[in-house]
Amino acid sequence: MSTQTSGLAIETAGLVKTFGGTRAVDGVDLAVPAGTVYGVLGPNGAGKTTTVRMLATLLRPDSGEAHVFGHDIVREADEVRGRVSLTGQYASVDEDLTGTENLVLLARLLGHRKPPARTRAAQLLEAFGLTDAAGKQVKHYSGGMRRRIDIAASILNTPDLLFLDEPTTGLDPRSRNQVWDIVRAVVAQGTTVLLTTQYLDEADQLASRIAVIDRGKVIAEGTKGELKASVGAGSVHLRLRDPGQRPLAADLLRRALDAQVQTEADPVALTARLTTAAGNDTAAEQAARALSALARGGITVDNFSLGQPSLDEVFLALTGHDTQQPRSGSDTSRDPKDEVAA
Ligand SMILES: Nc1ncnc2c1ncn2[C@@H]1O[C@H](COP(=O)(O)OP(=O)(O)O)[C@@H](O)[C@H]1O
Ligand SMILES: [Mg+2]
Repeated sequence: MSTQTSGLAIETAGLVKTFGGTRAVDGVDLAVPAGTVYGVLGPNGAGKTTTVRMLATLLRPDSGEAHVFGHDIVREADEVRGRVSLTGQYASVDEDLTGTENLVLLARLLGHRKPPARTRAAQLLEAFGLTDAAGKQVKHYSGGMRRRIDIAASILNTPDLLFLDEPTTGLDPRSRNQVWDIVRAVVAQGTTVLLTTQYLDEADQLASRIAVIDRGKVIAEGTKGELKASVGAGSVHLRLRDPGQRPLAADLLRRALDAQVQTEADPVALTARLTTAAGNDTAAEQAARALSALARGGITVDNFSLGQPSLDEVFLALTGHDTQQPRSGSDTSRDPKDEVAA
């Protein structure tokens, strides 16, 4: 398997990792094209981190194979390590040091002489909007700043492949957007990014292809267009002025959209699940059609919104269960002998 012929940054076949009774990763096949952002989307406990740790050579697979730029992750672990970076793992930021001190220190550890280390640190702090915080100890950084310095530290030497494991979980929308801009900038420099996330909209914003994983298995894979088409185009949410008009409104919506319409506990609320089968209309065109049908029927709509399918809806559509359902298998404690010495 060579990168030259396959154009793949990552290729795995039947990757498995078991912890006690839990098959954390249960036969994962992935093919990640080089030079793109590849999204691995799944709920808590799906096996995302375990997959990433195997690919980054921090954890040995029980069975299956994986190649990173054509190198076997077990037999050629050193070659793999030379080309990848994992945020928050290889590059650990020291809370007591300032932003500048951290980046200069890590650059020095990577073998840069002092002046280039300082230049690179200043460049990254600037690019990540951290110049004002450069002289502050990292322990005083906000969650968003902390996530940004972690990513900065992991790209001091531009890696060929960067693993970002849930880089925006818990961040406010503004910080999340800043991280997204950084990811776009990193991939524009030619780095391949494997991004794990619990958020469909994040995968949608950043990734070219997405693998949806659940209980250690890839349950769907494709471009985001393919994935969305398989789960529907989202939902129209409506609130009516008059609860008495709801049955008529539901009927008009059903006919205008050929969609499933749900009434909600709130007596004035309605939700129509859009399908991509409704011609080639976009969700917005379908929504416009719905609103005009309601207006013609004399129905007053107080409030209207158009929602993407949520991760929960994607899961329900793909698996028949929601993302909150606990996985089966005994809960075992972490076994340190599974960790590969770095
Ligand atoms: N070192 C470990 N020891 C025992 N169980 C683990 C260990 N790492 C992960 N698991 C279990 O494996 C499953 C997958 O975990 P993980 O890969 O962390 O999922 P995700 O990153 O998608 O949230 C979970 O059930 C988790 O509890
Ligand atoms: Mg995880």
